[in-house]
Amino acid sequence: MQLLTLLSIPIIFVSSAFYFIISRPSNVYIFDPTVLHSLTHSALQVHGNNTAAVVSQLVSELSATHPKHVNLDEEWVFNNAGGAMGAMYIIHASLTEYLIIFGTALGTEGHTGRHTADDYFYILQGEELAYAPGVYEPERYPQGSVHHLKRGQVKQYKMDSGCFALEYARGWIPGMLFFGFADTFTSTLDFYTLWRTVWITGREMIGNLMIGKL
Ligand SMILES: *[C@@H]1O[C@H](CO)[C@@H](O)[C@H](O)[C@H]1NC(C)=O
Repeated sequence: MQLLTLLSIPIIFVSSAFYFIISRPSNVYIFDPTVLHSLTHSALQVHGNNTAAVVSQLVSELSATHPKHVNLDEEWVFNNAGGAMGAMYIIHASLTEYLIIFGTALGTEGHTGRHTADDYFYILQGEELAYAPGVYEPERYPQGSVHHLKRGQVKQYKMDSGCFALEYARGWIPGMLFFGFADTFTSTLDFYTLWRTVWITGREMIGNLMIGKL
């Protein structure tokens, strides 16, 4: 019991410190949801359904404005979370933000997870459907639209067929990771993918931390 009390002190301290930091956005966040939306619009206008070209334009524009914070290597890994399956390419990961390309060429469906961050899902190809309990009609997010899942909100989501999105999360990112990894232990047992995901995420988070990006 005393040990628990002792342990809770640093946990409360670290959480309050982070809550304080993330409640002052201008100091921490380097990406902007509105700017990301207009970047996806212009990339879609130029390249349409050529999603590989859309992704490559997005990443090169992000890297032009944030040269130190963008991973140019398209290191795709599978991600199983909340019962849904897709693949992702991590463009940026730090303690308070991540930016990935997420999607599937086949379609998938699952639980969004209840997160400690705001999540913006900019549809690049296909369509995403979502709904929250108590609603009888699905929300529809076609190509070019954005699905903003607020911190703490949960929905069921579905991609009927191929769908890819630029996903931006801002908030307390380590709090989201266990959701992102849990299906490995209860379902896929794909520890190689888990290892690669942890390696890439850790490398990006620590790399960013070392240049002063929380
Ligand atoms: C992109 O693909 C969708 C779905 O197949 C189609 O409805 C749309 O017309 C296509 N857009 C262009 C610009 O080809």
